Amino acid sequence: MAVYDKITDGYKKSRELPYTICVGTYTYFQILGDLSGQSVLDLACGEGRHTRAFRKKGANQVVGVDISEKMLDLAKQEETREPLGLEYMVQDVLTLGKIDEFDLVVAAFLLNYAKTREELLAMCRIIYTNLKVGGRFISIKDSFEFYPDKWEKYGIIKGFFEPLHDGTPISINFFGKDWNVSIENYYLSKSTYEWAFQQADFKSFCWYDPKVSPEGIEKFGEEFWQDAINYPEFVGIECVK
Ligand SMILES: C[S@@+](CC[C@H](N)C(=O)[O-])C[C@H]1O[C@@H](n2cnc3c(N)ncnc32)[C@H](O)[C@@H]1O
Repeated sequence: MAVYDKITDGYKKSRELPYTICVGTYTYFQILGDLSGQSVLDLACGEGRHTRAFRKKGANQVVGVDISEKMLDLAKQEETREPLGLEYMVQDVLTLGKIDEFDLVVAAFLLNYAKTREELLAMCRIIYTNLKVGGRFISIKDSFEFYPDKWEKYGIIKGFFEPLHDGTPISINFFGKDWNVSIENYYLSKSTYEWAFQQADFKSFCWYDPKVSPEGIEKFGEEFWQDAINYPEFVGIECVK
């Protein structure tokens, strides 16, 4: 049974935190830009929240892949409720192989599941294989620095129990008033990531900092988001094949 099969409800709530909506999702879609007419492969698509948004923003073909059957059940339920012509596959990204050549391969919070540099490289190679020449890989993942006391007000606590080195487990707790959910990711250094992008043969790559949506600033005020900007909790990635 995949880890997320047991935490579907809690994880879904974490995607509704103001921080997730106003910073995480907002930044992700800023990096993605115009999706009109694009074919998109959404790796680790989870309950399909982004997958559906890609189609609604004009993508002409969208395929979602996730290792968790339960997460994909939620995605498929939404597809039944409001059909958008999305395709979902229950599959470990590491054994996906080539399914097509897409304009865009995306993966929000997948790469941080790689436990070793070899696993990260294997994911990068799968991503590369599924892209057209000139196609983009866009991702967001946990940042490489930790400022736990700065993120609690956003409903996030992160910790690790051994010195940081490639493979250190990182525990992440998302919480609200009457719920909380814990997941475990793995730390790999920024230089390991850059090594993997180069080894996978990407032509270029760049990193992005979090941004806050105008709606978020209007609703909660600039002061509330200052720590999200000064102490990034995640990073954005763009690689070009
Ligand atoms: C943090 S969630 C992100 C879900 C979605 N992308 C989002 O941003 O809301 C991570 C997802 O990655 C999936 N996942 C983890 N390892 C995977 C793997 N090797 N292959 C496919 N999916 C994986 C989990 O099942 C889970 O749905």
